[in-house]
Amino acid sequence: MANPDKNQKEEKQYLRMTLNERFQHFFLLSSFITLVITGFALKFPEALWVNWFRILLGEGAFEFRGDLHRIAAGVMVAVSLYHIGYIIFTKRGRRFLSDMWFKKTDITDLTQTFKYYIGKTKERPKFRRFSYIEKMEYWAVAWGTVVMGVSGSLLWFENTFLPIISNSGMDIATAVHYYEAILASLAILVWHFYFVIYNPDVYPMNKAWFTGHLSKEEMELEHPLWLEEIEKEEEKNKEQKEEQKESETEKEEITGKPEDERPAAETAETGSKDTDKDLINVIKEEIGKDGSSITEKPETKTDEIVTENKPEENKKEKLI
Ligand code: HEM
Repeated sequence: MANPDKNQKEEKQYLRMTLNERFQHFFLLSSFITLVITGFALKFPEALWVNWFRILLGEGAFEFRGDLHRIAAGVMVAVSLYHIGYIIFTKRGRRFLSDMWFKKTDITDLTQTFKYYIGKTKERPKFRRFSYIEKMEYWAVAWGTVVMGVSGSLLWFENTFLPIISNSGMDIATAVHYYEAILASLAILVWHFYFVIYNPDVYPMNKAWFTGHLSKEEMELEHPLWLEEIEKEEEKNKEQKEEQKESETEKEEITGKPEDERPAAETAETGSKDTDKDLINVIKEEIGKDGSSITEKPETKTDEIVTENKPEENKKEKLI
């Protein structure tokens, strides 16, 4: 029988990667896979697996592996530069960077993990938004991209750099590029793929890279402290909204009646102002007619009009 609690837990989803972040990840992974295949096909053109690609893609496409490698390299550099802009110029990006930075708790988490694996403790380490494993992966990719970008550019623009770094410099660049390529490929295939695919906790796959979300169950298992933070934040927002709602209702209760009355008061006020203006005009006209002083007539007229509070037209007519 289905467990309703479990279903409820699975229903609630938490945003892990925005669409923008998923696009960045997609461009990085597709350019990286292309670089691995074309790079090793350049190094080992006679290897068995390279022959499969030769058959699969056709001899013509295979001849373009050098160009494909350079196009994919361009995509990787572009997405890396975009990512740098993202973490500098967007609020979420800056938050991402600060959450991705190493903290003291990462060391205690690491020792706790070892203790857990060797059976010294039954408590798994509780991770925040990024575990020390994810942080290490991220910074390894960042560092690897710089190393591959620099060494690859030296190989790409050989004519420009050869006079500067000489033949031995070029040999070093080739060696660095090749060994870092092995390291990076293994890091992704063994390390990254273990944590997002083969790991029994997430198997058959952590789908956040295309759904963008993690379920409550996944959050409890992988990022319990982050879940706590989010829930506290949600609670705070809820309280703030309730307080706001309450204060709005209170305001309505207090100001509700006088506000109903206010328009009349306001009209009276405006009415008297307009009346004053009209009065002055009328007085001026009156003065013009019989030449008597201003102080004699206005008071009587003002009293008459204000107390009667009659429409302006009538007032004028009456006075004139
Ligand atoms: C921005 C990044 C990169 C640039 C600019 C770049 C550029 C280059 C260039 C120009 C070559 C020489 C190609 C030729 O001989 O026609 C090369 C070779 C190669 N690249 Fe890359 N590459 C980059 C990233 C990568 C990555 C990520 C991998 C694999 C993980 C990789 C693996 C290789 C391999 C295995 C070779 C052959 C090296 C050799 O002949 O010893 N490259 N790369």
